[in-house]
Amino acid sequence: MEVTFRIWRQDNPTNKGGFINYVVDDLAEDMSFLEALDHLNEILVLRNEKVVAFEYDCREGICGQCGIFINGRAHGPHSNITTCQLYMRSFKDGAIITVEPWRAKSFPILKDLIVDRSAFDRIIEHGGYISAKTGTAPEANAILIGKGVSDKAMDAAACIGCGACVATCKNSSAALFTAAKINHLNSLPQGKPEAHQRVLDMTTQMEKEGFGHCSFTGACEVECPEGISIANIAEMNARYFKAKIFG
Ligand code: FES
Repeated sequence: MEVTFRIWRQDNPTNKGGFINYVVDDLAEDMSFLEALDHLNEILVLRNEKVVAFEYDCREGICGQCGIFINGRAHGPHSNITTCQLYMRSFKDGAIITVEPWRAKSFPILKDLIVDRSAFDRIIEHGGYISAKTGTAPEANAILIGKGVSDKAMDAAACIGCGACVATCKNSSAALFTAAKINHLNSLPQGKPEAHQRVLDMTTQMEKEGFGHCSFTGACEVECPEGISIANIAEMNARYFKAKIFG
């Protein structure tokens, strides 16, 4: 199959950047989207042109590094997958595919499709850990946790920090990411000792990083590759008020 990639090219954070079209043929339907970009880069190398910079690590939907906007949607046209799990069979032969980096003030573009998501790391530094000494892996039933609680914690823990929630939100809010990280730990006994401090510190850092406020449009939930529920944000807000009163 043949497609035209319309790709955002930007040499560095201060460069203006713009779209450049690349016609790529010889693509197989069963190639992943990232493999198709690899193929484009091989062509660019042969032409002695600069390759397109894009990020990835696992290529298995785990690490959260491959996020890009494809035809105006975070991670492309399908729900609940990452860009590395997208295949070329999702596009028609002859399609024009617009590929852009995440657009958010707190995620400055570093080069082409790569953005700086270290703001997420700094939010994690302000509470994405526990202080309880857990020692070596305990026997499975040593700490009894109800199924409802463990399911909720695991659902929140599924967040891979890709940033699709921020990129797709009209306010560039990081509320879904922050809520998932807070609720994951605050739900469990091991996260209780610093539960109040965690919600206060992580939300404060979220504000400092310049992310916008959540206005509950729900776009983040729709585009999240892990299907993290927006209910996490309501729960984070409740935890925040509780921490303000009792923290
Ligand atoms: S490369 Fe790791 S989630 Fe896509």
